[in-house]
Formats: sequence, structure tokens, C-alpha cells
Amino acid sequence: MNSYSKQAGAIGIFDSGYGGLTVFDKIHTLMPQYDYIYLGDNARAPYGPRSFEVVYRFTRQAVMKLFEQGCQLVILACNTASAKALRSIQQRDLPEWDPERRVLGVIRPTVELMDQLSHTKHVGIVGTTGTISSGSYQIELAKMFPHIQVTAEACPMWVPLVENNETDSPGADYFIKRHLEHLFAQDSQIDTLILGCTHYPLLLNKIRHYVPQGVTLLPQGEYVAQSLSDYLHRHPEMDAKLTQQGTCRFLTTESADKFSETASLFLSHPITVEQVTID
Ligand code: DGL
Repeated sequence: MNSYSKQAGAIGIFDSGYGGLTVFDKIHTLMPQYDYIYLGDNARAPYGPRSFEVVYRFTRQAVMKLFEQGCQLVILACNTASAKALRSIQQRDLPEWDPERRVLGVIRPTVELMDQLSHTKHVGIVGTTGTISSGSYQIELAKMFPHIQVTAEACPMWVPLVENNETDSPGADYFIKRHLEHLFAQDSQIDTLILGCTHYPLLLNKIRHYVPQGVTLLPQGEYVAQSLSDYLHRHPEMDAKLTQQGTCRFLTTESADKFSETASLFLSHPITVEQVTID
């Protein structure tokens, strides 16, 4: 058993780096009253190409850090971490650390909407190599909606395009077109595309340009935010453990200056950042 405090605390939001800021932004817009601590493991990002064992180890350390900071609820705002670490943390670690704390991911809230959004019942998913090869979206979809046909495409170049501020370059067109053509060549009946990576909302215009007309694109932030709000309504006992002063802290394992500079690609306002170690 642990020695974590039972006192109310901020909502923790974790990502391998910057991408989770797209999710944080939507959560904060919907629920500005809560306190938030965002943690980006920038020193060890990207997680996308890493193995299960490594993503689990890194994510576990990050969650422990946020728990130490007093968070009673942590959102893994990273598809790769949700795909490769969430289940083990929920089943293996939480019961030992503190069964009353919660760690939630971004995959389930996204998958839950699929039956409602897709008319053809043919859904596409794009994500990092780690997320796609884990099969997590495919497994969740098959469990929840076995009648939905899923086709997935790993897009390893899309995150570096965003992080290097190349979203408007011809290189972005090349890689986005290539992967989307490959996806839709496999299943032309796809009518809903899950953007299963936190960075992809920044590529939304280009992605829209290369998907067939009428395809619904699903950036996750708003759905994850709504799902969290619903969760807190359904779980007043957790809501009571969240402090509500409207503060936001941003922690990174890399340089604070670098984080605040690159964060400006993801957020419309400047932020103050603290550097931390988590291993
Ligand atoms: N945040 C990650 C995700 O949503 C993308 C960046 C990375 O590969 O670490 O999958």
C-alpha cells in the first residue's frame, strides 16, 4: 500500500510531450473551474515507436509523479500511452498504489461514439506505429461494436511534421496523401476517420483535403473533454476530490523554455513551465 495523500488535488493530464495539449485545451475550455497539472515527458518522447514494456514503464513513472503532486485523477492524453500502458496501470498498479484514485485514457471515449457517427459501419483509424500495432482501437471497437469494420493505418511521419512546424509544407502534403490514399484503397466505404493521435488536430485542414468528401473526421479533444465531464457527473465521489481554483501548472522532463516555445504551436496563449525529473 502507498503513502499518497487522500487530500483533494488537481486533475493530472499526461502526454509523452506536447500533443496532449490539444486534449488539455478542450478539457480546460469545457471545465475551467478545476485545477490542472499537465506533464509532458518530452525528454523521452516520442513514445510512438517504443515497445510495450518501455511505454508502460515511462507512463507508470509519469502517473506516479502526478500522484505525488496530489492528483487523484489522471488522464492519459496520449494514444500511445493509453494503448500500451493504461490497462496494466489500472489492473496491476492502481489496486496497490491507491484503489480510490483513477487513471483514464483517450481510446474508450473515442470508440464509444463510433456506432452513432458511422452510417456505413466502416471506420478508419490513423495513429502512431505504436498505437496501431497495439491493436487497442481495433480490440475496443470489436468488443463494443462487432458489426463495425475497422481499417487502420500507421502514420509515423505525421508527429515529426507537427513538432517541426512543417504542417503547411509540401512534405506534409506528401505524407498525408500517401497514408490516406493507402487507407481508403483498402476500404472505400469508410465514412468516419478516427484521428488516433494527439498531434493530428494540427493537421486537420490537410487531412480534410485528402479524404473523400463526406467522411467525418474525429479529432479527440472535444469528445474526451465531454466524456470526462460526464464521468465526473456520474462519479460525484471523484468530483469531490478535485480542487477548483482554476489553476494550471505545466511540467516537462525537458527544458522549460523549449516546452513553452513549442507549446505555442498547440495553445493560443503563453504558459509558464517547470522542469521536473520522473525516473
Ligand atoms: N502523444 C502521442 C499519441 O497520441 C504522439 C506522440 C508520440 O509518439 O509520443 O500517440
